[in-house]
Amino acid sequence: MCGIVGYIGDQKAEPILMNGLRCLEYRGYDSAGLAFLYKGDFQIARAKGKLSELEQKIQDKNFPATIGIGHTRWATHGKPDEINAHPHFSKDVVLVHNGIIENYRELKSRLLENKHQIVSETDTEIICHLIQDHLDQGKEFESALHAALAELHGAFSLVILHRADPETIYTARMGSPLVVGQKQGESFVASDIPALLAHTNDVAYLHDGEMAVLSRNGIRFTDFKGNVVEKEFNRITWTAAQAEKSGYKHFMLKEIHEQPRVLADTLMGRVHRDTLDVDLAEANELLKQIAHNDRAQIQIIACGTSWHAGLVGKYWIENLAKIPVSVDLSSEFRYRQPLVNDNTLVVAISQSGETADTLAAIRESKQRGAKVLSICNVLESSIPRESDQTVYTLAGPEIGVASTKAFTTQMAVLYMIAVKLAFYGEHLEKSEAADRIQALLELPNVMKSFLRKGMASLDSIVEKIYQQEHCYFLGRGMQFPIMLEGALKLKEISYVHAEGYAGGEMKHGPIALIEEGIPVVASAIRDDLYEKMISNVQEIKARGAMVFALVSEGDEDLADQFDDVIAIPKTHADLNPFLTTLPLQLLAYHVADRKGTDVDQPRNLAKSVTVE
Ligand code: M6R
Repeated sequence: MCGIVGYIGDQKAEPILMNGLRCLEYRGYDSAGLAFLYKGDFQIARAKGKLSELEQKIQDKNFPATIGIGHTRWATHGKPDEINAHPHFSKDVVLVHNGIIENYRELKSRLLENKHQIVSETDTEIICHLIQDHLDQGKEFESALHAALAELHGAFSLVILHRADPETIYTARMGSPLVVGQKQGESFVASDIPALLAHTNDVAYLHDGEMAVLSRNGIRFTDFKGNVVEKEFNRITWTAAQAEKSGYKHFMLKEIHEQPRVLADTLMGRVHRDTLDVDLAEANELLKQIAHNDRAQIQIIACGTSWHAGLVGKYWIENLAKIPVSVDLSSEFRYRQPLVNDNTLVVAISQSGETADTLAAIRESKQRGAKVLSICNVLESSIPRESDQTVYTLAGPEIGVASTKAFTTQMAVLYMIAVKLAFYGEHLEKSEAADRIQALLELPNVMKSFLRKGMASLDSIVEKIYQQEHCYFLGRGMQFPIMLEGALKLKEISYVHAEGYAGGEMKHGPIALIEEGIPVVASAIRDDLYEKMISNVQEIKARGAMVFALVSEGDEDLADQFDDVIAIPKTHADLNPFLTTLPLQLLAYHVADRKGTDVDQPRNLAKSVTVE
């Protein structure tokens, strides 16, 4: 989820690239860098931290080049320092990259055998040396590039300069966005439209498997073998502010729609269709030790939305791996003399990696002898630094205060952990796991078409909820924590008082709150507890509640029993939480938008809670 830019024309490239990067800083701010090609040499400037650090570093420098590339990084491989900052380079190649190269370890071993000097921990530097390797074998630049692209597995968008050619910028796309624009005598490329809008409104999007070759005279499009691709330019009518959010009204809405892609990124290189295996790299060993320990227990600690992900994780780990799991709020755990010890694996979940209570709970656990595995979205933040191992969610920067894409990617990591533990504990044969792994890999596409198709009754539900003071969310089993999350989303951004309850708990008190016209959102999908949930809902309905139900696709005829239904697409039963989350996020978003609250920065809340 990095930001990349490139420019070739008749003006100095440096201010154009820096302005472009400023528009893309929301895509990553761990480090930033620029590379220019001037009189046969590369000039490179890189700095750790935000773009302002790079700005300071170059303020007394002069870069006269009229061709250059730039990058703002959201770290995935390698810590966010200057060595790992882009652009990366070899003798004749300098490039910037957005995405993840799955097979970089194999490529790296081969390149090291061929005596390439690799200095960073990134997957990106491998690409420079791979192209260089083909150049060293005597290939022309474009053939060397095609040969290298054919060897890369994963997602990437690349913008590349060749030392011997000051007239060309090469770009390629597979799975990560790239857009180009042109003007008389100038061509531009960026990972997102905001960086181009100061120069042109006419842009062309690259599709997977396509390259754009930019010169001062125009842009040529090909596939990865050099065959010509015909492409049309589109006129963009967004303002710069709209463009930063890819045309969405708020970051939260953009982030809801990013979920299919970031989920695919989080699974990529970890879930293997061919071997039916899950590979969590350095965390594997920790999981193996726990799965082979008869006295093992797992303790999950987290706050807010991350805690809800942990509650879903408990169902998966206990069901699949048969290891007992407790889930605590970090703020409670740290003060309750927890009984964790060297048989405990503590799983700490945090989007930001800076949540003070979770950090304190990690320290408390380590003092008591537990090992800590964290699930985090921000590389090198405090929580990963203090954990024994970390599995990163690759959700990219989450800007909306209400967590959305971090939640679904946290659940994806927890599911992978559950499957891996089940394999190690021999509770799940690979053949038995096949349908789960298949469904997991298909999930991003199922989510994508669900979001694209839209939810017909959503608008009508929003109209019925937005002026209400209270709203209840009911679910059972894995749907219970999803309903807690639905309620949290609604209350934090729309300020409607919302509570999530387990369906079976209503009779023990909360049903007293049900009166004529009170809105209740209930999950009534076809899972193991379907019949029981339907009974719970009928009890609520009989007392006059207005019930909006999430039902399984095919059950739309239940609409006459409820006030409105939203049909949830079919997937493996384990994975329903990913799909029932989507309408709840959208419901909260549209209710808040309808009320006109500040969706991305709700009152009294901060994105990162670094105080107790
Ligand atoms: O960064 P973390 O995941 O540790 O943050 C935990 C909570 O503060 C966070 O999930 C919060 O509840 C969000 N506002 C929920 O949308």
